[in-house]
Amino acid sequence: MNNTRNEQYQIALDELDLALKGDFLPTYIYSYPPKRSYRELDLGTTVRELWANDHSDEINIYLHIPFCRYRCTFCTLFLTTRHDDAERDRYVDALVAQIRRRPTGDRERFVKSVYFGGGTPALLTPSQFDRIMAALRESFPSISSDTEVTMEGTPDAFAAMDLAVLRGAGVNRLSIGLQTLDPEQLRRSGRPYSTDIVAPVIKAVAAAGINHLNLDLIYGMSGEGVQSWVDSLEGVLDFSPTTLSLYPVVVRPESTLDRLRQNGRAAETPEKSLYELYDIAEAILTSRGYRQESFTRFTKAASGYLQEESDFSGTPLIGFGAGARSYTSEVHYSTDYAVARKETSDIIAAYIECQLGKGEELATHGIALTKEERQRRFAILNMTLGRMCGDRYRSLFGGDLRADFARELDAMIVRGCATIDGETVRLTSKGYKMSSAIGKLFFTGRVEALERAYVGR
Ligand SMILES: C[S@@+](CC[C@H](N)C(=O)[O-])C[C@H]1O[C@@H](n2cnc3c(N)ncnc32)[C@H](O)[C@@H]1O
Ligand code: SF4
Repeated sequence: MNNTRNEQYQIALDELDLALKGDFLPTYIYSYPPKRSYRELDLGTTVRELWANDHSDEINIYLHIPFCRYRCTFCTLFLTTRHDDAERDRYVDALVAQIRRRPTGDRERFVKSVYFGGGTPALLTPSQFDRIMAALRESFPSISSDTEVTMEGTPDAFAAMDLAVLRGAGVNRLSIGLQTLDPEQLRRSGRPYSTDIVAPVIKAVAAAGINHLNLDLIYGMSGEGVQSWVDSLEGVLDFSPTTLSLYPVVVRPESTLDRLRQNGRAAETPEKSLYELYDIAEAILTSRGYRQESFTRFTKAASGYLQEESDFSGTPLIGFGAGARSYTSEVHYSTDYAVARKETSDIIAAYIECQLGKGEELATHGIALTKEERQRRFAILNMTLGRMCGDRYRSLFGGDLRADFARELDAMIVRGCATIDGETVRLTSKGYKMSSAIGKLFFTGRVEALERAYVGR
């Protein structure tokens, strides 16, 4: 271990101590390595060859639909708001071609979950959605009525959709990004609909027989006070969702919200207030019978989000579409990524051209994982879900979790963030709250440096 590594560890430890005092809240961890550590890849390998080296029997599927009607002020996801019927149709042609080509090879892999993310996949027409599902079923015959199939979208997009058709086509989990029920916060987030549409949409979800409903809320967007947050929370609890995902706002330099804040036109929410809003939510949700699954997620289901759980425990992910990430055991890759309009449109156009052409798809952007990074990925992601299992670690990597991460685990235990029971490390309630800062203790120097050096466009 070199000095840089020790220095980096010390910085992460200092930040954890700041977080414990409520003075620092790093971005929540939703993957490792994070997308901002991806760079141009020069492996000289096709996507098919990457999958030939992945011997797993199970797989998760993610489809990215990069179209929205508007861009919310906080959002830096990969999407365009400039599209028409013809372009969406061509995009679906490209998706279907990519799925039919079976980049994962002929090896039969059991599909654990399918996720339509975006963007706003709820903008697909029923016939576009049917074409994609038919291609998926053809290429992945293990997809059945038991497979978790999720579609995410905004309330206004779902309001315009026939949810019974979605259910009929296999969607059994809906994830609706509400973000807030406070009309003023909603207006400031750049969303052009009224909160009045939310209740009828939720009613329609139940009427269509979609039993798993996840609702997303964001806190701390724009000088939101405690009362506004409690009202949003109480309001969503009236809808009895199966799962709630609650995100502290992340303000990236590429977002409109960042520009508004720089110009003094949107209020900042101090770290301490974000933790206060988190504490309020945790107390309310646990008192209403929700089980905490991670820093952001609370559920009444056996699993609030099977795709994430199985991804974090090591099941590979095949992504279809521009901007979709794919994780083989050794390489994480995606298309190029951008937020700016022109760059995004160019990337989508290049994706369509590549998939509708005859050539083999190459992994052009991403990161190759060393064994150490795979071990760290396992530790970080399982930690965020509250449990690191030493037996599973040994079966995957042949090592001893407690010995390999003695320093990180000690730091967690001494601070009351974790307990150890035999081979299993468990987060305490304080540990869940600190999990974004704890995760940083485990980052490799390379990933940390790549993420820090990322320049958005
Ligand atoms: C993949 S996103 C988009 C979902 C969907 N298009 C929508 O907006 O309803 C999933 C969730 O991440 C959260 N999210 C997106 N950008 C965020 C940001 N900058 N800060 C915090 N949470 C964010 C939102 O709650 C969002 O619903
Ligand atoms: S938050 Fe959702 S609806 Fe808003 S721009 Fe991002 S992906 Fe589109």
